[in-house]
Amino acid sequence: QQAAVITVDGPGGAGKGTVSMLLAKYLGWQLLDSGALYRLVGLAAEHHGVAFDNEASLAVLAEHLDVQFKVSKDELVQVILEGEDVSKELRTERVGGLASQVAALPGVRSALLARQRAFAEGSGLVCDGRDMGTVVFPDAPLKIYLTASAEERARRRLEQLRSKGIAASLSDLKKDILERDARDMNRETAPLRPAEDAVEVDTTSLSITEVVDLILAEAKSRG
Ligand code: C5P
Repeated sequence: QQAAVITVDGPGGAGKGTVSMLLAKYLGWQLLDSGALYRLVGLAAEHHGVAFDNEASLAVLAEHLDVQFKVSKDELVQVILEGEDVSKELRTERVGGLASQVAALPGVRSALLARQRAFAEGSGLVCDGRDMGTVVFPDAPLKIYLTASAEERARRRLEQLRSKGIAASLSDLKKDILERDARDMNRETAPLRPAEDAVEVDTTSLSITEVVDLILAEAKSRG
């Protein structure tokens, strides 16, 4: 029995992470933050000194990723990579950049495929990423594509990082975001683009609650 799946794709900073977390919580479903997997592969590659163009070794790393996700009392997810808490480092733009480099390699993407699909168990799954609706769960009954202007996405990232005690500058963030967009949209394997049957939502002037309500209404209207 295949679990119900809602896919939430889009560029960085469009609100996918927060929206997906709230949707999963409301529905009581599993949550898959697929970007975290690519970030972990990037970080593991750095730890092991694997070159970012060594596709075969990076694919092996991805396949055997030693990671645990622990939910603490305050509901924050702790990410433990090879025994080390990398929760904070994982969210930095630097690691986002590493992620988008390893994510361009087909060997890495296919090594992560089974791990991602295994999250679709129980009553349902909300997953966020770049190719959830196009590649990983092409049969998902509800696919959302979230966007927002680059300016607004940089502003949101800044606030998010600040709230976690991580310093950053708005102009650097905007530059990183545009660079990462270009890399994610122009790669040959699983480029970032809306699935043909995706509902596109521009979140530039919407609050998180408005976006979540809109998606829940869409889910309800489809039964
Ligand atoms: O969403 P997040 O910013 O954590 O993703 C980091 C990077 O991982 C993205 O820029 C993208 O290159 C890659 N990624 C991907 N496919 C996904 C999720 C993330 O290629 N499903």
